Amino acid sequence: MASSLVIKGGTLVSSEGVRRGDILIEGERIVEVRDAFSSDQSPVTNYQLLDASGLLIFPGLIDVHVHLRQPGGEHKEDFYTGTCAALAGGVTTVFAMPNTSPAVVDETSFDHAMRLAEQNAVCDFSLFLGATTHNSKLKTQNSKLLECGLKIYMGSSTGDLLVEDFAAQYEHFERYPHDRVIAVHAEHEPAVRYFARRGLRRPPICAEIEVSRAVAMAAHCNRRLHVCHVSTRREVEIIADAKARGVPVTCEFTPHHLFLSRQVVQDGGMGEQGDKGRGRQGDKENVNSACGLPPSCFEMNPPLRDQADVDALWANLAVADCIATDHAPHTLEEKRSANPPMGVPGLETMLPLLLTAAHEGRLRLEDIARLCCEGPARIYNIAGKGKIAPGFDADLTLVDPSAEWFIGDKPLFTKCNWTPFAGWPVRGAVQRVFVRGRLAFDAGRIVVERGFGRPVRN
Ligand code: DOR
Ligand code: ZN
Ligand code: ZN
Repeated sequence: MASSLVIKGGTLVSSEGVRRGDILIEGERIVEVRDAFSSDQSPVTNYQLLDASGLLIFPGLIDVHVHLRQPGGEHKEDFYTGTCAALAGGVTTVFAMPNTSPAVVDETSFDHAMRLAEQNAVCDFSLFLGATTHNSKLKTQNSKLLECGLKIYMGSSTGDLLVEDFAAQYEHFERYPHDRVIAVHAEHEPAVRYFARRGLRRPPICAEIEVSRAVAMAAHCNRRLHVCHVSTRREVEIIADAKARGVPVTCEFTPHHLFLSRQVVQDGGMGEQGDKGRGRQGDKENVNSACGLPPSCFEMNPPLRDQADVDALWANLAVADCIATDHAPHTLEEKRSANPPMGVPGLETMLPLLLTAAHEGRLRLEDIARLCCEGPARIYNIAGKGKIAPGFDADLTLVDPSAEWFIGDKPLFTKCNWTPFAGWPVRGAVQRVFVRGRLAFDAGRIVVERGFGRPVRN
């Protein structure tokens, strides 16, 4: 018989509210959720008991946008270290991007990446298939692939996946199964190049043009579209308008576009946190030397925006269907080089930052459950994850809401071993994480074996 576990007296968080409750788990699944303190129900026998009073319990977070670098970039991250970072951040399922080397663009590369993930991941996962200018017929010819969605780099970024011209983009929109998700990195490549010649790095118009094009194609083909890393007010308006017209589009915001702004590069990495964010160090100069991070550690595609855009994201959280990290680790050596790659890690910092924002009243705990748990499951149609309810996988993130600490104080699991949020004071810490009923992260330690993670089906 499967082992039983009761997690008692925790405060359960969902998009609909926060309530005390007991969770009964058998094997990998939740079998019952009871209101705490109710004494009229039949007692459960032969179970292990975990007292969770004083703790918040979220459904395990689902991060639908991570770069885990394997194969080909194992010096920055791999499926093991990346999923350890996920668990440390309360994330129990990750969707890995295909811009590896080789890129995941056909059956051979997909099977290879899948094998590596199955051998190494410590949380659950799925893999994107990458679009190329030549592979738009792949899905119609091969139904065996079990990818979470198709990723199209409509603008260039790390790696060589780029589908820039209209015909190639359109053929993917037309041919990829219409009820499955196409996720896009939407920056208009001709605009990116044009502004680069003028010394400007990817201004907002680059993203705005390409999001408009993607939405127009999705509307025309009446197909599912997911816009990655929305970073500007105008993109939000375009997507809100498309949703109002019934276009099947969803979108994600990232923690870095919510918590950092262009100012941070000048201010030494403390962004809108201002004096508070300077934490123990005090003045700017100390922060710079304490963090020791070069400006490139605050550069990613799409780039950080002005405060007005950051404010627009916060004011329009209702337009976001999820928050995803775009965890994009690069080594400090690479970041310090003459031509640094774009991207920042984010798996270990997303939940503490959001909990802190909740503590400050900038969003509600319910919003975190909607954006990090239920939303991702809904967008990608993931069965049995994202909620604390009978029949769902027992993926649970237990949080001590009152723990106060500084990001960077605890050792990081990501192989790149830095974070753009180093030194930020946060409130709320991940204490324990369960994946399919197994305790996987316990007080700072990974307690499941390499390869414990399983592929998710959607
Ligand atoms: O900054 C980024 N880094 N944006 C991307 O689109 C890719 C990512 C990476 O893989 O490094
Ligand atoms: Zn991207
Ligand atoms: Zn990305």
